[in-house]
Amino acid sequence: MVHLLLARPERYALLRDEPARVPAAVEELLRYAQAAMGANLRVATVEVTLSGVTIGAGEAVVALMASANHDEDTFPRPDLLDLTREAPAHLSFGHGVHFCAGAQLARVQLQEALTGLTRHFPRLRAAGPADWKDERLSRAPRVLPVRW
Ligand code: HEM
Repeated sequence: MVHLLLARPERYALLRDEPARVPAAVEELLRYAQAAMGANLRVATVEVTLSGVTIGAGEAVVALMASANHDEDTFPRPDLLDLTREAPAHLSFGHGVHFCAGAQLARVQLQEALTGLTRHFPRLRAAGPADWKDERLSRAPRVLPVRW
C-alpha cells in the first residue's frame, strides 16, 4: 500500500492532508493492491449454475478474488486506484463462512499505520525502485527505499 501511495505523491498527500479519508482509502487499497494472491479452492456440494456455467456436485472451483475485485459491473473504472471511492465492497477478505476472522483487526492496523505514517512522515517519498519478494502467496516489496 505504501508503494502504491508513494508511486503518485498526490495519493500520499491526500491521506496526509485529509486523514478522515484513510478508512475508505484502506478499503480501496485492499481492493486494488491484491497483496494476497491466493485463489480460493471450493468444491460444489450440489450442482449449481453460475453465469451460465453448470458446476456439478463434487467439482472443484477456483475463485479468483483479484478478478472479482476488478469486476466492472461493481466497480466503475476498476483498474483505477481511486482513494476517494465510496467504501468499495471488495472480496479481499473472502466471503461466506470462511470470511477472514482477522478482517477487523487488519482494517484497524492498516488505518492506524497509514494515519501514523502520514502524520509522522509528512514528506515521505520514494527514493528508488522497490525490490519485490518472490513468493507465490503474497506480493510485497522486500525493500522499499524512501526519503523523508
Ligand atoms: C490485510 C490482511 C488480511 C487479508 C487480505 C486476509 C485475507 C483473508 C482471506 C481472503 C481469507 C479467506 C480464505 C478462504 O476463503 O479460504 C482469510 C481467512 C482467515 N483469516 Fe485473514 N486476512 C488478513 C489478515 C488476517 C489477520 C490479521 C488475521 C488474524 C489475526 C487473519 C485470520 C484469518 C483466519 C483465522 C481465517 C480463516 C477463517 C475461516 O476459514 O473460517 N487474517 N483471510
